[in-house]
Amino acid sequence: MPRTIPLISCDDLTTGSSAEVVADGRIFAVYNVGGTFSVLDGICPHAGGPLGKGTLDGQVVTCPWHGWQFDVTNGQHCLNDTLCQPRYDVEIRDGQVCVCLPD
Ligand code: FES
Repeated sequence: MPRTIPLISCDDLTTGSSAEVVADGRIFAVYNVGGTFSVLDGICPHAGGPLGKGTLDGQVVTCPWHGWQFDVTNGQHCLNDTLCQPRYDVEIRDGQVCVCLPD
């Protein structure tokens, strides 16, 4: 049965912003694109950079270390079709952005 873990208050993640959140022993990258929240694995697959601290432009985040770019809505790398960052299902509960983790 999937577990749902609160990551951040919706009010603390305004439209167009991103956040890095550590929960359940993992690092998550949380994004707000026009009021829709997305969660990716927060560790960049290039060299471990913090995707939650990247710059968000529309639905594309740019890793702050070397500039790799991902679509935060599906994890797809913007230039390499074979690279896809893990994404997680999201639920909003009691004003919190929650990540749904498979057991
Ligand atoms: S660590 Fe993210 S682009 Fe290099």
